[in-house]
Amino acid sequence: MRLSVVGCGYLGAVHAAAMASIGHEVVGIDVDERKIAQLASGVAPFFEPDLQDLLVEGLESGRLTFSTDIAAAVGASVHFVGVGTPQQKGGHAADLTYVDAAVDSLLTILKPGDLIAGKSTVPVGTAARLAERIDGSGATLVWNPEFLREGWAVKDTIEPDRLVVGVPVSDGADGSAQGAPSVEGARAADILREVYAPAVATGTPFIVTDYATAELVKVAANAFLATKISFINAMAEISEVVGADVTQLADAIGYDARIGRRFLGAGIGFGGGCLPKDIRAFAARAEELGKGESVGFLREVDAINLRRRDRAVALVVAAAGGSVFEKKIAVLGAAFKPHSDDIRDSPALDVAVRLHGLGANVVVTDPAAIENARRDHPQLEYSADLDEALRGAEAVVVVTEWDEYRRQLAPERAAALVNATVVVDGRNCLDATTWRAAGWTYYGMGRP
Ligand code: UDX
Repeated sequence: MRLSVVGCGYLGAVHAAAMASIGHEVVGIDVDERKIAQLASGVAPFFEPDLQDLLVEGLESGRLTFSTDIAAAVGASVHFVGVGTPQQKGGHAADLTYVDAAVDSLLTILKPGDLIAGKSTVPVGTAARLAERIDGSGATLVWNPEFLREGWAVKDTIEPDRLVVGVPVSDGADGSAQGAPSVEGARAADILREVYAPAVATGTPFIVTDYATAELVKVAANAFLATKISFINAMAEISEVVGADVTQLADAIGYDARIGRRFLGAGIGFGGGCLPKDIRAFAARAEELGKGESVGFLREVDAINLRRRDRAVALVVAAAGGSVFEKKIAVLGAAFKPHSDDIRDSPALDVAVRLHGLGANVVVTDPAAIENARRDHPQLEYSADLDEALRGAEAVVVVTEWDEYRRQLAPERAAALVNATVVVDGRNCLDATTWRAAGWTYYGMGRP
């Protein structure tokens, strides 16, 4: 099939490359000339495993092209919209400027029968509004949210655990049952089944629903994940007072299949380009709908999450003997999570910035995110060399659980480099027993 993907950020670039890899002819479109030039020359503009290979493969096959001109989308029958929906400046709601602009630009090239498939995370009600906007074009709008995780984006796109598509539903006038997909909606769902044929063939659940449900599925999933993380971090706060160990607590409750151990990693909390902004936008949208109280707990989820950064900073200050002023602190990690160079709303970098604010000589190291971190926070010192970062440190804080720190860094070797053998494990990712046995004073999050 011929597809276009409008917006070539994390979501769109991966989607375009992944769709080309399963055999479609895809054009990726973005207004950012630099990004398009990079993608067109086979260079992934951000770190994402397998993306680089997929890009090169797609470009060489001739099935994948990139352009800054929306006219390049002429001829495609499905147009994906994967532009950003950042947090509004000065507010919590989502900024829909880019989504609206993408749909408006598509309006100039749409032909009857085309599909616009929105993938961006949007406030519930957006799809209905956009459907009105394209009314009269003869094209159909569907909402097809994306659940990809950074670091697994290619795999999550090609082998998703479910596909969700919100389509126009019938008012009964077109012969379809009222509330069921309209004739137009059913046709749109069939087209998307064809787009995702390999995943559909392996039995991936394919949920066809209305616009509002599809939009809500996405924000509900992210709200649930954020809540799960903040729940265990709240347990960490209690554990700290009573001397309990939140990691054992998480293991023990996680064995209950109804609870499950995943996303019960207590530490400095969640960050990134999605969870923080999405729960805030959800709460803001619920307020607009007069149902703020229904998701009022998301404010707590956000607050618990931010408190864990304070806690990590306080632990480092304690670990450094009550003050970090003019002391070298080795900060291991800058990315919001491992296998990513993304520093958007990164709790790791926030801890580094706060320690710097307290007068510490912070040296930040990270296997992938230094360049991005330096761009946003040039005031910090960086070293790509882990040993260099550790050398002479008065305290070490691990804030992103890269394998380089949790598996490959031997506590004995680290001990030989630092000035003081104190470590704050902001991700509860080190083996406390081994580190203590090697002479370290170990501080975890929610652990004795
Ligand atoms: C998330 C959702 O998982 C994904 O489905 C959605 O499409 C986009 O948002 P992502 O932002 O890539 O994906 O990261 P994720 O793996 O969910 O981690 C988010 C944050 O939570 C990270 O900062 C991570 O370190 C933190 N986290 C995760 C924890 O603190 N504890 C955990 O147990 C799990």
